[in-house]
Amino acid sequence: DFYAIIPAGGIGSRLWPLSRADAPKFLHDLTGSGASLLRQTWDRLAPLAGEQRIMVVTGRAHRVAVESQLPGVEDHNVVLESEPKDSTAAIGLAAAILVRREPDVVIGSFAADHVIGDARGFRRSVREAVAVARAGYITTIGITPTEPAIGFGYIHAHGDTLDIDGAPTAHAVRSFVEKPDLDTARSYVEQGTYLWNAGMFIARADVLLEEIGRNNPTLLAGINELADAWDTSARGAVVDAVWPTLEKIAIDYTVAEPAAAAGRMAVVPGDFDWDDVGDFASLAKLQSGGRPNNLAVLGDGARILADSSSGIVISHSQRLISLIGVEDIVVVDTPDALLVTTSANAQRVKGVVDALKISG
Ligand code: GDD
Ligand code: MG
Repeated sequence: DFYAIIPAGGIGSRLWPLSRADAPKFLHDLTGSGASLLRQTWDRLAPLAGEQRIMVVTGRAHRVAVESQLPGVEDHNVVLESEPKDSTAAIGLAAAILVRREPDVVIGSFAADHVIGDARGFRRSVREAVAVARAGYITTIGITPTEPAIGFGYIHAHGDTLDIDGAPTAHAVRSFVEKPDLDTARSYVEQGTYLWNAGMFIARADVLLEEIGRNNPTLLAGINELADAWDTSARGAVVDAVWPTLEKIAIDYTVAEPAAAAGRMAVVPGDFDWDDVGDFASLAKLQSGGRPNNLAVLGDGARILADSSSGIVISHSQRLISLIGVEDIVVVDTPDALLVTTSANAQRVKGVVDALKISG
């Protein structure tokens, strides 16, 4: 009864100029494994769900790239958006389409652009989460925080585990706070009882939709109108009429925060390496394999002459790149744009994109 959903819509603007509107982060190989993050997500989920039971939600513009990276994906499992409306619409529409095919389906939504070291450990946690979801909880997977990051949701769990068969480590959640400010994040990390939300939501599809409807009834009505028309000849007309009206809001606000406050959320602490590689500093850290004085290099045929340690160079060209005496440097060389910054300033890259309104 399990179906995996991969919402693939974020642009990853803090990874500009590698990640672009027409080639977003999830289409890139950021680990040097030869597979894009999207493909790695798919490969992690296939043994769990089966290739026939993975749905991908993405923008129309990415259809060709997504289908060529995922030759196993079935046509009826590719949901194309006319414009991005954030994660409630993307995940909600997938859930609404699936619940019409299978009323008791349990869905799990997994970000397309994360790096996970231990696929078996990941699947073990998801299996637990599915058992908890069957019992009616909106379930997420928690990661032990290593720093007061402000780009994540924070989960405060109850001390005792839930008594659910097949889910020995699951806890009920007291509260969920999406992207707190720095002081709040610091206090959460100091208290030591909070987990990061790994951006995975596992729930019965009907339960998830009910939660969206409780807090955002108009958005749910739009999602249902789309899902009713999805497998019919009316789809095009309904999409044109309804899609532009959908509220653009993340599922962390429509589902996670209110469900946690009402005692309808659970968490399975994930015991696997997890990284959302949100910016070049985290990519440099990931690529240097924990060796702090190692300059990471990503790219086929990159020619680097370096008398420098730490940081990262990304290049897919034949151009010789020479670095002398610079520490923690970030160099990203692409055919039409060059970024030079430092790890400490990695968060500010998004600001450049916003300022330039670069769209491709
Ligand atoms: N199809 C589609 N369309 N997918 C979307 C859209 C959209 O309009 N917007 C976001 N997504 C997808 C992203 O591609 C990603 O897979 C997932 O939904 C989460 O969206 P992000 O935009 O990456 O969210 P975030 O990183 O700011 O925060 C979320 O993830 C964190 C972990 O990485 C939250 O769930 C946080 O609580 C969490 O800690
Ligand atoms: Mg993200």
